[in-house]
Parts: sequence; structure tokens; C-alpha cells
Amino acid sequence: MRNPQLNEKGDLQHLLNVEGLPREHLVRILDTAASFVGVTERDVKKVPLLRGKSVFNLFFEPSTRTRTTFEIAAKRLSADVINLNISTSSQSKGETLLDTIDNLAAMHADMFVVRHAASGAAHLIARHVAPHHHVINAGDGRHAHPTQGLLDAYTIRHYKSDFSRLSVAIVGDILHSRVARSLIHALNILGTPDVRVIAPQTLLPTGVAQLGVRVFHNMNEGLRDVDVVVMLRLQNERMKGPLLPSAQEFFKCYGLTAEKLALAKPDAIVMHPGPMNRGVEIDSSVADGGQAVILPQVTFGIAVRMAVMSILGGGS
Ligand code: CP
Repeated sequence: MRNPQLNEKGDLQHLLNVEGLPREHLVRILDTAASFVGVTERDVKKVPLLRGKSVFNLFFEPSTRTRTTFEIAAKRLSADVINLNISTSSQSKGETLLDTIDNLAAMHADMFVVRHAASGAAHLIARHVAPHHHVINAGDGRHAHPTQGLLDAYTIRHYKSDFSRLSVAIVGDILHSRVARSLIHALNILGTPDVRVIAPQTLLPTGVAQLGVRVFHNMNEGLRDVDVVVMLRLQNERMKGPLLPSAQEFFKCYGLTAEKLALAKPDAIVMHPGPMNRGVEIDSSVADGGQAVILPQVTFGIAVRMAVMSILGGGS
């Protein structure tokens, strides 16, 4: 079966998932992003690579970082950007997702950036649209958040260079995390030898070790000598019932404090995809401390999203 992200020539047609993304495409995105970092730091931050193209942002779930950085990235590539306001769109009158897409396609959309609570929504749209359209998954349910996985990989490469020597720990609500899944796949594709997940059993998916990770239930063991710590929020909006005694209890066992961070390598970096819940998964002294690269992650997200859109649009 053909890779749904690639066209007949093997070029990237859609970005739906990091899983199954050929290594050369992943590395090309990271390398292209590196070339755009300079653009985002110039006085004139625009390049004409997507001039005349229309990018539709369709966010059926809340977002601060992803929606905004996609909009900035598209504008810096000189695309026209249309942000559909879902709450005032005809979805509220019962229009189906695919009918909405057909109508936007009739307005000559080139690219759809889609966030949806349903896993597989972006894949559904990608199967439906005509071959000249491009679909970017901006997060679908608990399944995948590929541009977040890519910007996380970009951030790690920026600070640590060589994936083949790294230990990376991902801590917290792995079960509901599309970010964790996309990052684990990216780290595996890039040859990271030691990827750990640290969580209580109730917040781990069944068979998680098959993703190529080592499983820890204890922070003191799991954080020992790691180079990178990635903290995750408790995704209460996806929980079907209480999975933890309390947020306080979670913080005591799995919250990242300066004391626990001291178990990692002295030059370890701390990452978080956001939004952060201070005092639940991360202490403010760490979130705002010298090892945190949480805000640089957001900034790199612009360059990574520029890279993805310019490659899909054939402009890079
Ligand atoms: N990391 C992330 O997806 O953040 P937003 O929900 O704000 O887009």
C-alpha cells in the first residue's frame, strides 16, 4: 500500500504523522527549518515561496501555539491565510467535515492545516481531497501531532547535535499524548538509542514498550543521567474518568522539581510542548530556570512549520 503522505513520485504530499515518514524527508524538514531560522530573525521576515497560495487554518480544538505559529509561518512565506472560525462556521448547523472541506476547496484552497479531536480526521481529509491539495495534521485526538514532534526534534538537535548519543525521558500523561507519540517516532527515526517514558501505569498506553521505549514508573530512576527531559500536561479533556488520586499526588510523584532535575545530566535541557500547568507537572523554578528551552521550542516551531509548508507547496 502506498504511503498516504507521499505522492506517486515519492514527494511529500501531506504531513499526517511522523510514523512512516521516510528519514530523508524528516531530515530535509529539519535542514530546511534551519535555513528559515535566519529569515525569522531578519528585519524583513518574508520570503515569496508561497505567494499566491491559500492556506486554510481549521482548528476544531483550542490552540495557542500551533494555530498562531502556522499563521505566522504561512504569512512569512507570503501565502494568504484564512482562519476559519469554527464556532461561527456552518459546522454548528450540521455541515459535515468533508462538506466543509469541499466548500473551502471550491474557494481555491491550496493547503489545509487541521486540528481535530477525532484521531484520523486529517487522514480522512487527505484521502478525500484532490491531488493538488495538501493537508497538514495539526493534532488529531491522541494520535499524532507531527509538526510538534518535528519542532521538538529540531530543538533537541539545536542544543544536543548528535541523536546517536542521547538519552531522552518523556514524563507524564503518555496515554493521551499525541505529542509523545510523534516525538517517540521522530527520535526512533533519527537513531536515538535511549528513549524513556516515565509515568504511572494508568497513564501509559498498552504495549507502549513496542514503540521502542524503556518504561519507568519512578522519576528518580527514569531521570538518571538523561540529556533531555520532556514534560507533558495531564490531558484531562481526553480522560474518560479519574486516573489519578489528585493533581497534588501527581506532582509529588511525577512533577519536575529542581531536586529531581538534578538527577539528569548537569547540561540536560527541559522541554514542554505547552500549555503548561505549573505546580502539576512542572515547578515554576524549573519552567523558568536556566535549563528550560520551552520558549525557544515555540520560536523554532515557526521555522519548522515554514519548512513543512514550503516543501509541500513545492517552494523549497
Ligand atoms: N503544543 C501545542 O499543541 O500547543 P497548542 O495547543 O497551544 O497549539
